[in-house]
Amino acid sequence: PVASVVELGGVKVGREDVVRDDPTNNVPDSIFSKLSMQLHRRDHHPLGILKNAIYEYFDSTYSNKFEKFDDLSPIVSVKENFDDVLVPSDHVSRSYNDTYYLDSQTLLRCHTSAHQAEFLRKGHTQFLVTGDVYHRDSIDSTHYPAFHQMEGFRVFSEDDWAASGIDATYFAAGDLKKCLEGLARHLFGAVDMRWVDTYFPFTNPSFELEIYFKEDWLEVLGCGVTEQEILKRNGKSNNVAWAFGLGLERLAMVLFDIPDIRLFWSTDERFTSQFSKGQLGVKFKAFSKYPPCYKDISFWINESFTENNFCEVVRGVAGDLAEEVQLIDNFTNKKGMTSHCYRIAYRSMERSLTDEEINDLQWKVRDQVENKFNVVIR
Ligand code: PHE
Repeated sequence: PVASVVELGGVKVGREDVVRDDPTNNVPDSIFSKLSMQLHRRDHHPLGILKNAIYEYFDSTYSNKFEKFDDLSPIVSVKENFDDVLVPSDHVSRSYNDTYYLDSQTLLRCHTSAHQAEFLRKGHTQFLVTGDVYHRDSIDSTHYPAFHQMEGFRVFSEDDWAASGIDATYFAAGDLKKCLEGLARHLFGAVDMRWVDTYFPFTNPSFELEIYFKEDWLEVLGCGVTEQEILKRNGKSNNVAWAFGLGLERLAMVLFDIPDIRLFWSTDERFTSQFSKGQLGVKFKAFSKYPPCYKDISFWINESFTENNFCEVVRGVAGDLAEEVQLIDNFTNKKGMTSHCYRIAYRSMERSLTDEEINDLQWKVRDQVENKFNVVIR
């Protein structure tokens, strides 16, 4: 049963305000029910424990100068989420396939960067914003359509870089890297890390930080020196700034050894009871893993078919019982018709599923695929 009203940042929002009968609305009930969860605000939850550990680093390194916010509504305007941070008008992230829209002007933020411009305008110069973010996505152990990010932002004025004698942009980039290397050491201890150049519309230069973990390089955050245009538009023409955005689940999966991103949403006591306030990095002990059950579905696709839409049908039917959706066959025949075969892994982390139950889910998936996408099942 889905609660019909949620409170977001002190404002009551009804289900029909979010899951609306509007041609541009693509928010399902399963997402509406996530809006009230606020996992990052629970001191005994791995995401809350991690958030607090990052707070601790900033408080001690910057003598409590960073302001902290974790209660901003995830419902924002297209302008805040994209235009204000210079995302080009034809960027894929704006599409209905990638982002949840309430209507053509309102959406569920897909990153915490959506709050940068407003905070700048309001005069904040050093802040951390933590919150739930949403992204239409495929299904596997590290992807989930709702997750959590923390945004960090620091504004400098001429006094700061003039004294150093170096160029303002270099000054900000150097300070940013020093800050985040310190954070990585605070969380992981002595780890190998490396900086990789990348691109974001809102920063230049832009970097990703990777840490060496279990014999592999793992991307943990994106960051960079804020585009001057963003500062200029928000009354900070004479300043430079840096920004970063980190994914809390990514870091928490590593720090707590949590193997599947669905677990963060589990209310099973065998999960929740393993974590306590202030205890960063206590390793999660898997409770008996029940076997997965695989079911295949093949159909001829049409131009409007997308994998994200298919995954949303699967999640709508199976919820968190859907562990993974994999495209296992893809071919085009002589007539130019394309067929996809997807393998769905069903698995509960809490109990074993019956054949009957899984067959029932698979029939519902088949049914909805036929009706919603107007495709022919093979
Ligand atoms: N918003 C970016 C993302 O979601 C992360 C980021 C934040 C990058 C701030 C640079 C500066 O991937």
